[in-house]
Amino acid sequence: MLTAQTIAIVKATVPALQAHGEHITRCFYDLLFREHPEVQAFFNQSHQAAGTQQRALADAVLAYAANIDRLEALANAVPRIVQKHAALGVLPEHYPIVGKCLLQAIREVLGSAATEEIIAAWAEAYGALAKIFTAAEETVYRTNERRSGGWRGVRPFVVARRETESEVITSFYLRPQDDRPIPAFEPGQYLTLVLDIDGQSTRRNYSLSCAPNTAGYRISVKREQGGKASNWLHDQATPGTLLNVLPPCGEFVLPPGNERPLVLVTGGVGLTPALSMLHAAASTGRRVDFIHAARNSRTHAFAREVDALVDKHAAVTRLYAYDEPLHEDQPDVVGRLTTQLLAQRLPADRNVDLYLLGPKPFMQQVYRSVLELGVVPARIRYEFFGPLESLEAPAVAAV
Ligand SMILES: Cc1cc2nc3c(=O)[nH]c(=O)nc-3n(C[C@H](O)[C@H](O)[C@H](O)COP(=O)(O)OP(=O)(O)OC[C@H]3O[C@@H](n4cnc5c(N)ncnc54)[C@H](O)[C@@H]3O)c2cc1C
Ligand code: HEM
Repeated sequence: MLTAQTIAIVKATVPALQAHGEHITRCFYDLLFREHPEVQAFFNQSHQAAGTQQRALADAVLAYAANIDRLEALANAVPRIVQKHAALGVLPEHYPIVGKCLLQAIREVLGSAATEEIIAAWAEAYGALAKIFTAAEETVYRTNERRSGGWRGVRPFVVARRETESEVITSFYLRPQDDRPIPAFEPGQYLTLVLDIDGQSTRRNYSLSCAPNTAGYRISVKREQGGKASNWLHDQATPGTLLNVLPPCGEFVLPPGNERPLVLVTGGVGLTPALSMLHAAASTGRRVDFIHAARNSRTHAFAREVDALVDKHAAVTRLYAYDEPLHEDQPDVVGRLTTQLLAQRLPADRNVDLYLLGPKPFMQQVYRSVLELGVVPARIRYEFFGPLESLEAPAVAAV
């Protein structure tokens, strides 16, 4: 329980954090990676280079400071962070390391404004937050371990086969090396691979693209230009390759038992979790519209698999849009998913669950359109293949 004085001091530092939040988190990561290289392997360095991870951490710390007297306001933010930490295998012993570097960064950036009193209040507040996270993460680890076929930590899986899905996407079918059962997962969840690439441990998340209750797992990976893990998988992971895998995690999921029409809107490789959701929902008879944007037939993955589900289930429909079709391509739509087009796909009452995933500009455009068409924000779920960002239009800066 935090003292009233700690709460007051932490709240009073919100304006300073607002002004310096990202500077503090940049300084924090520099310190963390310099002084504790052993935790660097948990972080994706391209998210650092893009600044998205610093923003996500700065936003989280700010939200915490601003709501320290009513932590229930953070209820929406905590599960995502907990799932992300648990997916990557963050452990209680990492928290004091992160806490020490965060306090040191606050000291360095705020200078003399960071009095001993402020640092002591933050140390206490950080300890309270770390306790919330470690307890919630332990619950996830225990649940994942205790479910039928479940496990904790890394488990070796064998690449059973690989399948080319498009010019850029390849699927890897994984079975556990011990040939024992594996747990079902929630459609939309992802695995974390712990890869050893050129002697460096590298952790990456990959959505499960198969139906949620198959005998093995399937991930489908896009080869990213200059990307470390995706190129390694495409070039090195062949049948028989062993991969260390952490259990399925994630809260961008399709809860069971919902009857509302489901609209899955994806661009590029963003279709992977939607494919798993499509498999799960189609078998229940739920109305599903699978709307997918790709550059053209060369980059379009899983067309045959989706079409087979459309043919098999009367309640499933689909639409493919190509913005750079090849001469021989015959997509349903040439160009982007406009507001007008989306209006034709949505039921008149707009009473749908809509899941959105793709490149950020694509998601921003679709998000704006569906809001304009009257889908309520609470029914729109979106995911980033990286730290969470906002799809809201940036506020116009005051001059
Ligand atoms: C929840 C979740 C689910 C995901 N599911 C999938 C999925 O189903 N399929 C899929 O393909 N991907 C998925 N991803 C993305 C995946 O985890 C990887 O981020 C992706 O494969 C790229 O990793 P990489 O190691 O190949 O590229 P990275 O090495 O991380 O590089 C990514 C890009 O950044 C550039 N870059 C790297 N380092 C720097 C630097 N220092 N400065 C500037 N630029 C740099 C690279 O050139 C490259 O273009 C998912 C991510 C998340 C978070
Ligand atoms: C109270 C302390 C902490 C807070 C507030 C915090 C907050 C966050 C937030 C907001 C994200 C982004 C989630 C997303 O949207 O994807 C994140 C991701 C992450 N966190 Fe933490 N975190 C804390 C402690 C830790 C600790 C102790 C570790 C251990 C090393 C850690 C490792 C990570 C990693 C590896 C990621 C993913 C980074 C990436 O995508 O590259 N965090 N955290």
